Amino acid sequence: MNMSEEQRQQRLTQIKQQWETKRTLNRQLRRIKTKIGVYSAKGGVGKTTVAVNLAVYLAAQGFSVGLLDADIDTPNAAKVIGGGDVPNMADGRIQPAENWGVKVVSMSQFQENEEEAVIWRGPMIHNALNQFLQLTDWGDLDFMVVDMPPGTSDAPLTVMQTLEMDGFVSITTPQALALLDAKRSINMIKKLNVEVLGVVENYTGDVFGSGGGKQLAKEMGLTYFGDIALRPAYRDDSQPTVLGNKDVRAEYDNIWKGIKARLTELEAMPDQVAAAQAAAAEAEGEAEGAEK
Ligand SMILES: Nc1ncnc2c1ncn2[C@@H]1O[C@H](COP(=O)(O)OP(=O)(O)O)[C@@H](O)[C@H]1O
Ligand SMILES: [Mg+2]
Repeated sequence: MNMSEEQRQQRLTQIKQQWETKRTLNRQLRRIKTKIGVYSAKGGVGKTTVAVNLAVYLAAQGFSVGLLDADIDTPNAAKVIGGGDVPNMADGRIQPAENWGVKVVSMSQFQENEEEAVIWRGPMIHNALNQFLQLTDWGDLDFMVVDMPPGTSDAPLTVMQTLEMDGFVSITTPQALALLDAKRSINMIKKLNVEVLGVVENYTGDVFGSGGGKQLAKEMGLTYFGDIALRPAYRDDSQPTVLGNKDVRAEYDNIWKGIKARLTELEAMPDQVAAAQAAAAEAEGEAEGAEK
């Protein structure tokens, strides 16, 4: 079928705009050195808690850190981190709020009615997240921690495809029953060729036992980053638990050591890095081409 000249021009303009958007986004995202997703197949395993405490921990180490709440169905990371500052939306740009030294942006901050359930489909998630990422002035960050939507369906997949991350920390619980879910989710991530940095076990202790995380890591050939005990300390929401409890801080020292070692290992894989850079350069070249 022949396109009219007008249609052709329209299409061309559309393609140019898409490339321009993608370029701006890439340029902005390049200012974020390392993006780490916190993920699990199930809800309620402590993803948000770990994402928040990890972000706050990294900020306390002197890194510049952002926390992106990408859990569109139950966005509560901004609430959990507390501090109360809300992002400033002037001139159509989003200036993240800074709480406990962490720049925070959450989908929840843009929902008109907090109690309303939002049902997001893949393309909507993709568009919303893209827009969100474009409009936010994160500035230069050492780390962005992403609180992921749970599950193995549309939502987490779309987030993983829209926002390229350096890797994921997979959260699991101590019980053997949870292993199957955890394995399924890790297999999904692997299928997408995304890096699983390692495994963390949450809720370790007398109530739920221990060992699930270690077993999972062993069976999946992953690094075990350590466990996080079930503690009443989490009920105190006056500040993130990692700041007020030295046993919790020790747990995060351990997890951070594991993440750092894995990231260093990945950095030392020149082939993969070169391939990724070549692909990025190619995309950039095509964008330049489309502009002319
Ligand atoms: N190690 C822990 N000890 C005690 N309570 C915890 C711990 N980890 C998480 N919680 C609590 O469990 C609940 C669910 O955690 P959350 O991080 O919201 O899970 P998810 O984001 O995976 O749905 C929250 O109320 C949180 O404070
Ligand atoms: Mg959550």
